[in-house]
Amino acid sequence: MRIDKLLANMNFGSRKEVKKLLKNGLVNVNGEPLKNGKTHVDPDKDVITVAGEVVEYVKHIYLMMNKPDGVISATEDHVHKTVIDLLDVEDAGFEPFPVGRLDKDTEGLLLLTNDGQLSHELLSPKKHVPKMYYAKIDGEVTQDDQIAFRKGVTLDDGYKTKPADLNILKSGTQSEIELVITEGKFHQVKRMFEAVGKKVTYLKRMEMGSLKLDPSLAPGEYRPLTEDELERLQDRQQNE
Ligand code: URA
Repeated sequence: MRIDKLLANMNFGSRKEVKKLLKNGLVNVNGEPLKNGKTHVDPDKDVITVAGEVVEYVKHIYLMMNKPDGVISATEDHVHKTVIDLLDVEDAGFEPFPVGRLDKDTEGLLLLTNDGQLSHELLSPKKHVPKMYYAKIDGEVTQDDQIAFRKGVTLDDGYKTKPADLNILKSGTQSEIELVITEGKFHQVKRMFEAVGKKVTYLKRMEMGSLKLDPSLAPGEYRPLTEDELERLQDRQQNE
């Protein structure tokens, strides 16, 4: 594979930063400096060093899943099926884990990866990564709720939520909404609606940072991220 891709995949930086490392002669392959990012290397045979440190290559995988209802977003569960049980054996062999949790009955966008650094950055409270949810609500969602969510509502444990953007798609005895939150407290969306006296009856995550759920994925289906999706996700985290 290309050396620039390999190094970006191993979290040595964005494509641009990797280019700089190469240009500055910090990357050696089998003892020789390598400056051209397009050069192909074999991570199983070639000895690659960056600033004198040997690069231990572990292939990272990045999968976008449309999580179905009834499945746990964990790697193991003694009773219920997990999202890992939905993967092909070859993909499961890379030991990916879900980035954050969706409730058992929540559907939608779930990123699965074995890249601990990216996962950590996406979940870090300091990064304020926005997550967009679509929900059906039992009860009439109003402008007052929009204002309350913008100011922050107090959850059942006394925690005051950060400002959140509520978009009302349909208002009535059964409402439909989109909500963008930048944190990930336990059952957060459901508890925010409970705080304003309403009940979430269906919840689906649509977006996480720059990543949008591919509408062609049926519940339970998944696919690798495209290069573009991965680059945008990595760049965004590094720039913040
Ligand atoms: N908020 C919830 O209440 N549940 C989820 O699964 C995700 C966000």
